[in-house]
Amino acid sequence: MDEASLLIRPCRDSDLPHLQRITVESFGSVALEQMLEHKFGLWNGRDWKARKAAHIDEDVIACPEGCFVAERGTEILGYITVRIDRANLRGRIPNMAVVESARGLGLGRRLIQHALDFMRGEGLKLAQIETMASNAIGQHLYPSCGFEEVARQVHYAMKL
Ligand SMILES: CC(C)(COP(=O)(O)OP(=O)(O)OC[C@H]1O[C@@H](n2cnc3c(N)ncnc32)[C@H](O)[C@@H]1OP(=O)(O)O)[C@@H](O)C(=O)NCCC(=O)NCCS
Repeated sequence: MDEASLLIRPCRDSDLPHLQRITVESFGSVALEQMLEHKFGLWNGRDWKARKAAHIDEDVIACPEGCFVAERGTEILGYITVRIDRANLRGRIPNMAVVESARGLGLGRRLIQHALDFMRGEGLKLAQIETMASNAIGQHLYPSCGFEEVARQVHYAMKL
């Protein structure tokens, strides 16, 4: 990707609808929220898109300074969010996505590097990220950015 035309900058309030759109367009096959819906259907009238989009709102509220967008011209191509656990000098990347048309060009890697630089600047000592076992890109990308696998988790759910 043309380095000069791409800007990674802090998220603004006006970006939020774009981030939500990118999220629901991007996370289809890799979101736990969608897997729950596939298995159990709707349980309160809210679909997985509403729940997943709300995660981004929650990230921005929890740590607005840790939310960054990648922009080319006026088009937002991707974003990354960071949450900070200051008591334990630890940062976590709960969500990131790149629009499908811009994938595979190194943008995800650049967003991760940007988030890691932000965490270092905040004095944090450990960075965490997680991915679903079904997300082959995450399992390739995160180790290649320096993350080491620590543990695997199994998600259970049942209807009440
Ligand atoms: C994950 C995501 C943000 C990566 O964005 P991106 O801009 O395509 O990332 P990059 O181009 O920097 O890197 C992608 C890497 O995955 C590799 N890759 C692509 N498809 C792959 C596949 N099916 N299996 C394994 N690796 C794959 C690419 O070759 C590249 O690695 P390389 O740099 O060593 O060649 C993007 O795919 C996305 O938005 N996915 C949907 C949402 C999502 O999964 N978010 C993360 C949740 S944990």
